[in-house]
Amino acid sequence: MNDQAGSGQSPWTIEMISRDAQGVAYYLEKYKPFRLLALQESPSCTSQMCDNSLLKMKLKSIDVINFLAFSSTHAREVAFTAADWTARVTTSIATTFVAVEFETHDILSSVTLVNSLSIPNDLKLRGKNGGNLSEAKHWQAAAVYTIPRVRRRGVASDVIRAAVDWARKVAHSQEQDCLVTALVMDTNSKARIWYEKCGFSIYNCRDDAVLVAQYIPCEK
Ligand SMILES: CC(C)(COP(=O)(O)OP(=O)(O)OC[C@H]1O[C@@H](n2cnc3c(N)ncnc32)[C@H](O)[C@@H]1OP(=O)(O)O)[C@@H](O)C(=O)NCCC(=O)NCCS
Repeated sequence: MNDQAGSGQSPWTIEMISRDAQGVAYYLEKYKPFRLLALQESPSCTSQMCDNSLLKMKLKSIDVINFLAFSSTHAREVAFTAADWTARVTTSIATTFVAVEFETHDILSSVTLVNSLSIPNDLKLRGKNGGNLSEAKHWQAAAVYTIPRVRRRGVASDVIRAAVDWARKVAHSQEQDCLVTALVMDTNSKARIWYEKCGFSIYNCRDDAVLVAQYIPCEK
């Protein structure tokens, strides 16, 4: 794993899970149980949301659909083989950031950024400051989750900040604008409030979900 953004006084560090052997081992040992807990404890954040909303987006790759079957269930993923988990961490379309507690080494919170997704049509015509969103380098945030015992302590905010900062650096190093989006179920008002607090704007309300986005133009 790579250190991304230690948060000073916080009892956790923010890390990006690498795609090498060390990252795979970590993913299997630590991320897999974290993810299964998320699916068990908070199924409403992971199901339905993507099934309906993603179908409306033009997806470029079947891999993306498979990955974003974060619209998934505990029953589905508990049956995953080690190869299935390994495929998730080694795919080049997804990058996972985690907050790791210093004392316990537990994963407290995570965000996965998925690229190769088409930019939602709703956003293409809405460039800010003359920017053209359809030209931006785009990631969708998925698998956003904090374990219950540390909620409302800023851990998810630290993770998404590090993830967006990473995305911004990647996009800007290629002289592209950066766009990070997420779909939030209509019923999940606390997540919507959280995204807004983290600098995302609400761009569109769909049948079952709200589209939120953070757009960071590249200063050329
Ligand atoms: C949404 C979630 C990831 C937030 O994680 P977290 O680590 O508690 O978030 P933070 O501590 O960084 O939250 C910071 C701010 O977000 C907002 N927020 C977070 N949880 C909130 C809640 N339950 N109600 C209202 N606002 C909330 C607040 O503005 C909060 O600031 P405050 O505590 O000073 O008021 C977490 O509640 C979670 O895992 N929920 C279940 C899964 C989920 O809904 N994922 C999102 C799917 S789109």
